[in-house]
Amino acid sequence: MEKIAISTVAQEIGSYPIAELIEKRARLEREGVKTYNFAPGDDALPVSPLILNALRNSLPPTSFYPLVRGTEELQEAISNYLSRRFSVTVPKNGILPVTGSKEGIYHLPSLLIDHTSTRRKVLGPALAYPPYIKGTIAVNGEYLGLRGPDEAPYHFELADVPPETLKDTALAYLNFPHNPTGVGCSLEYLQRQLQVAQEYGFLLVSDECYADVYFGDSPPPSLLELTQEGVLVFHSLSKRSGVTGYRSGFVAGDPEYIDGYARLRNSIGTALPEPIALASTVAWNDDEHVRERREVFSEVRKRAIKFFNELSLEFLTTEATFYLWGKALEGLSGNEYADALQKKGIFVSPASFFGEGFDEWFRISLVLSLEKTEEAFSLWREVHNELKQKRR
Ligand SMILES: Cc1ncc(COP(=O)(O)O)c(C=O)c1O
Repeated sequence: MEKIAISTVAQEIGSYPIAELIEKRARLEREGVKTYNFAPGDDALPVSPLILNALRNSLPPTSFYPLVRGTEELQEAISNYLSRRFSVTVPKNGILPVTGSKEGIYHLPSLLIDHTSTRRKVLGPALAYPPYIKGTIAVNGEYLGLRGPDEAPYHFELADVPPETLKDTALAYLNFPHNPTGVGCSLEYLQRQLQVAQEYGFLLVSDECYADVYFGDSPPPSLLELTQEGVLVFHSLSKRSGVTGYRSGFVAGDPEYIDGYARLRNSIGTALPEPIALASTVAWNDDEHVRERREVFSEVRKRAIKFFNELSLEFLTTEATFYLWGKALEGLSGNEYADALQKKGIFVSPASFFGEGFDEWFRISLVLSLEKTEEAFSLWREVHNELKQKRR
C-alpha cells in the first residue's frame, strides 16, 4: 500500500534533542550502565508536601471539561503572585493558564501568522529554547535567530535588526534568565527591546519561566513591570515549583491578545485539568517552597563551580537558572565532549541542541541531588583526564 507521506513541515520540525537523549539513556541503562542525567531541565527534588496534598485532595466526585481561562481561584492566585513578585497589577482578563509554557509558546505564532500574512518573521535568540523555532515552522513562519556582539553574544538588540526585517516581524521572543546559558538582563535592556517592538508594532513575548530560580540579591525583572500593552509573558510552575509533570504555567499581558488566544485555545483543547488547576492555585500562592528550592540549587551550583574550576573548565558566571554553561576541554567541540561523557553514562546537552555558532559550549543542568552530583563528578574527572592525556 502506498501511504501518504509525513508532511515536510513535520519533518522540518523533527524530533526533540532531549527526547532522543532519553532513548539513548534507557538503552545504556538496559545494558547495565549507571547513568547521571544532567541534560534535562527537570529537577529531582521531591514536590512540596503543600502541593502534593492539594493535588491529593483535589479529585472532584464528578468531572466536567475544564474552562480554557481556568478557575477564578487560579486566576486570582496568579494575579496575586504577579503582584507580590513584580509589584504589577494584572487583571484577570490579562491572565490565561497554559498546560506548560512549552505548548503555550509552540501554539502562539498561530495567533498572529497564517498562510496569507505578510508579517511572518519571528525574532528570538540564536541560542534558543527549541519551541520558539518549531512553533514558527508549524505556521510556515520564518524564525531569525539573533546574536549580540562578541562581548555580549547573548544580549542581542532588536534595534540592530534591519528595518525591512522589523517591518515584516510578527513577534519577538526574549528569554531572560536565559536557557541554556543562565544569563539575565536588566529592566533597561527590556525597555530598549520594548521601544523597538512598539515602534514597529510587533508582539513582544518574554519567556520568564526561570524568574524564580535565581541566586543573587536581585531577582530577575519582568517585562510586565514596563507595560502590559503589546506584550505577553510566559511563566511556569515547572521550574518555580519543580512540577514539570503537572504541565502548568500561564501567559499574561495585553488583554486583547489574551482574549484572542483564549478563543483560539478553546479549539486546541489545552485547558488545565481541574485537579492540576487546584494544585497550581496552591503553588502560585506559596513562596516558601520556592525559596527552599533555591537553597538546594545554590548548594549544588557551588559544588559544580568548584568542580569546573578544579578541571579548569571555562564557564559563564551567571546568577539564575539551574544551568551552568561550560566550555569543552580545549580542542574539543561541545558535541565531542558530551559524547565522551555519555559513553560513561553522564548526560549533558551540547550547544548544538539550542542553535548554531556556539560549538565549543555545553549545558549542564544541576538537577540531581548533591550526592548523585558528587558521584557523577568522580566519573567525569576520569573521563576528562583521559581526554586530556589523549590530547597531549
Ligand atoms: C526557556 C524555557 N521556556 C519554557 C520552558 C517550558 O517549560 P514548561 O513547558 O514545563 O512550562 C522551558 C523548559 O525547559 C524553558 O527552558
